[in-house]
Amino acid sequence: MIPPGTTDRGRRAAAVAATALVETGMLLGLGTGSTVRFVLERLAERIRGEGLRVSGVPTSLATEERARALGIPLAELSPGREPDLAIDGADEVEHAALSLIKGLGGALVREKIVAYGARRFVVVADESKLVEKLGTRAPVPVEVVPFAHAATARRLERLGGRAAMRLQPDGKPLVTDNGNLIYDLYGLGPIVDPAALEQDIARIPGVVECGLFNGLAACVFIGSEDGTARLFEASR
Ligand code: 5RP
Repeated sequence: MIPPGTTDRGRRAAAVAATALVETGMLLGLGTGSTVRFVLERLAERIRGEGLRVSGVPTSLATEERARALGIPLAELSPGREPDLAIDGADEVEHAALSLIKGLGGALVREKIVAYGARRFVVVADESKLVEKLGTRAPVPVEVVPFAHAATARRLERLGGRAAMRLQPDGKPLVTDNGNLIYDLYGLGPIVDPAALEQDIARIPGVVECGLFNGLAACVFIGSEDGTARLFEASR
């Protein structure tokens, strides 16, 4: 899904700036989405042009397929071998704390697993993703197991929002790479305490993971239409 205000130039500028952080020998986390596609392209260019040697852990089947097609070596997470650097997009970026909403691309579980373990988690986005408070434009996606999913959705709604099952264009439920469903929680914003909300969502049985990413991003590159990228760093 490409939100209004999203531009190729902005996304590409952010992607190029973040990919400049990649050094030979790194294990990378490869996120998912249209901005990450620019990261993959730039990475492939650097592999071909500079002989950069890296491998990447893809966070979705779509990223895996794209990385393979571009000739980016792939790897799996293994105990004791976490990514040196993970680069991923976001649906909303709260600029003060660098809290995020992710998952409109449906890959939030693998994305969070990879971001959580990475030594450095770097986010790439264009200006349309910057918000004062999370939840003002994007819903909060929640991946749930199929068993009793409607009951899980009602329990999620007790947190205050409205839960809508994510559907494919043909009207069938969207099934994630993990075989689960996604409910998008609307009406929760502005989210004053994203960390508390993340915990409240995680407590509900049947929830696999939610798209609130708190305290994970080390920095965010925000790309602009003029082709430049601004760096926002976490103060932690
Ligand atoms: C996928 C994600 C994406 O990173 C997020 O949706 C941003 O995607 P895009 O760069 O296409 O706007 O969280 O699950």
